Amino acid sequence: MSNVRIGLVGACGKMGAMIIRRILATENTELSAAFDIVNIGQDVGDRLGLGKKLGVPVSDSKDLAAVLKASKTDVLLDFTVAAATAVNAPVAAGAGVNLIIGTTGLSDAQKANIRDAVVKNNVAAVISSNYSIGVGIFLKLVRQAARELGNDYDVEIIEAHHNQKKDAPSGTAMTAAEIISKEMGGKEFVYGRHGVCPRGKEIGIHSIRGGDIVGDHTVMFIGNSERIEIRHQAHSREIFVAGAIMAAKWVVKQKKGTVYSMTDVMA
Ligand SMILES: NC(=O)c1ccc[n+]([C@@H]2O[C@H](COP(=O)([O-])OP(=O)(O)OC[C@H]3O[C@@H](n4cnc5c(N)ncnc54)[C@H](O)[C@@H]3O)[C@@H](O)[C@H]2O)c1
Repeated sequence: MSNVRIGLVGACGKMGAMIIRRILATENTELSAAFDIVNIGQDVGDRLGLGKKLGVPVSDSKDLAAVLKASKTDVLLDFTVAAATAVNAPVAAGAGVNLIIGTTGLSDAQKANIRDAVVKNNVAAVISSNYSIGVGIFLKLVRQAARELGNDYDVEIIEAHHNQKKDAPSGTAMTAAEIISKEMGGKEFVYGRHGVCPRGKEIGIHSIRGGDIVGDHTVMFIGNSERIEIRHQAHSREIFVAGAIMAAKWVVKQKKGTVYSMTDVMA
């Protein structure tokens, strides 16, 4: 079996560095291209202090299409910022490259635009705000609780992340809120509360930022005499890295022209 050739946008970021190390340690995968807007031209091996050159330089993401084609990349992972992914993902799809989108904070319009590019260029993509396998199970449990408890229970979502995270609420908190809203027949979202704000039938969503918290999510279903809390806590970013590589190996074998979720990867 030939190796899956994986390219990466955001190669010099926290996730990028971990993903590269994992690609090198995973059977049947190889790093074909690396992109960022910093450290252009530096060999990725030097950049990560691996003690050897990998023969893959950090390329400027402005050269995405040309480098992807020249490097025969099968699948591109993107862990950057929403504004960058919104531009780069359609370009990569246009170059015939499958996609794993990890960047969070994409608007509905940006996601729809990426979806259109995937369909139009007949590639396959996975878009997920959380590649952890545990979060996949967490979301299944949240769906089941929302379905079975119905509207008698108030729902609050609390998420906590490190102090470098740029977007709030987390993509995973929003995914949980959307699942619950769908199961409960449509809910308004309220982001934090301040001043006079009597509770209605909304889903309350609260974000905590501090220190080095990798990612905590708690969904509370609160009734009059009891409450259920479903919680996931990530101890290390390695869980996202492992899931993203699993998705990359999976997506290259899927039907083209389709956007998948992590639930599809885990099915
Ligand atoms: N889906 C998941 O499971 C998951 C898990 C963890 C993090 N994330 C998300 O991944 C993203 C990156 O997280 P991080 O902690 O590695 O952030 P980071 O700030 O450490 O890294 C981001 C990298 O993207 C680069 N970048 C910015 N604009 C670019 C552009 N136009 N072209 C190429 N590179 C560009 C930056 O220079 C930087 O090296 C965030 O959106 C975060 O929320 C997703």
